[in-house]
Amino acid sequence: MYTSRFSKIPLGVFPTPVTQLGRLSDQLDGPRIFIKRDDLTGLALGGNKTRKLETIIGDALAQGCDTIITAGAAQSNHCRQTSAAAAKLNLECHLILGGEQPEKITGNLLLDKIFGCHIHWGGANRKGEDIPELVEQLIALGKKPYIVPYGGSNELGAIAFIDALEELLNQTDEAFTHIVFASSSGGTHAGLMLGKYIFKKDFELVGISIDKDEIDDKALDQHIISLANKAAKLIGLKTSFSDQDLTLNTDYIGEGYGVVGALENEAIKLTAQLEGILLDPVYTGRAMGGLINMIRTGQLGKEANVLFWHTGGAPALFAYSDALDF
Ligand SMILES: Cc1ncc(COP(=O)(O)O)c(C=O)c1O
Repeated sequence: MYTSRFSKIPLGVFPTPVTQLGRLSDQLDGPRIFIKRDDLTGLALGGNKTRKLETIIGDALAQGCDTIITAGAAQSNHCRQTSAAAAKLNLECHLILGGEQPEKITGNLLLDKIFGCHIHWGGANRKGEDIPELVEQLIALGKKPYIVPYGGSNELGAIAFIDALEELLNQTDEAFTHIVFASSSGGTHAGLMLGKYIFKKDFELVGISIDKDEIDDKALDQHIISLANKAAKLIGLKTSFSDQDLTLNTDYIGEGYGVVGALENEAIKLTAQLEGILLDPVYTGRAMGGLINMIRTGQLGKEANVLFWHTGGAPALFAYSDALDF
């Protein structure tokens, strides 16, 4: 059994459920599809970031920090969950969000405000480029800040997804052939890669790429491999990952990050109307749209047994109402 030696701060409710999407499979005349409901992690309307924050904020507390800083898009789910975690733990929270303050405060941004965090508008910078300056300002004010990386995707965040995979394997005996999920800052993907190696599984991990922009000057595929290798080193695994260990599907990026088109709209509608489950417009809508397309184009046949990992994000639906067809 794998036992993480990193101290976690409990923030969520686990295990998250696994259920079958029978009506969606029937509608697509496709393979069996199951869903892992990380949209139900319990922290501030849920999502995959709860898992990462348990290890990352655990580290912040171990270091005696009193202030959390992170960054993301105006509708970042990661920032919303970070604000909630900080509120619960009595930590001051600063978010640097991309763009300018919008006229209408809704979706995740509304929730950030309700959690009482400090919001700084970063203009074109949504991936933490302005964090060093804010760190200096906060230190000058006598604070002890801790930087939660973009998307919660560092080694500690990734390691939380080893535990997540172990949780799944303890929940079901289904022999999944594919695990499909949204991949954006890479921590979920890197952690699942490590878990697949540790638990000796042969399913294919299919990350659907959400964002074509680079992270830390690296394309997402190289970022994920580097993160998986850094996390492997941290936990003392004597292995190294390379391109052939990674499946990152970039076919569904469409017009780019957060631009909702027909693919996301159809996936959101089908999943809601056949299964009563809400996806989000930016990540899981796109990932499910990719899965549906892979089934329709025969890339995933009836013999497959698919797990779709729902990583959360539904609060953003409210902010994207103009782009949604219903
Ligand atoms: C709802 C949702 N799904 C998936 C992801 C992608 O996870 P990761 O950043 O670990 O690649 C994010 C990240 O922001 C997210 O908010």
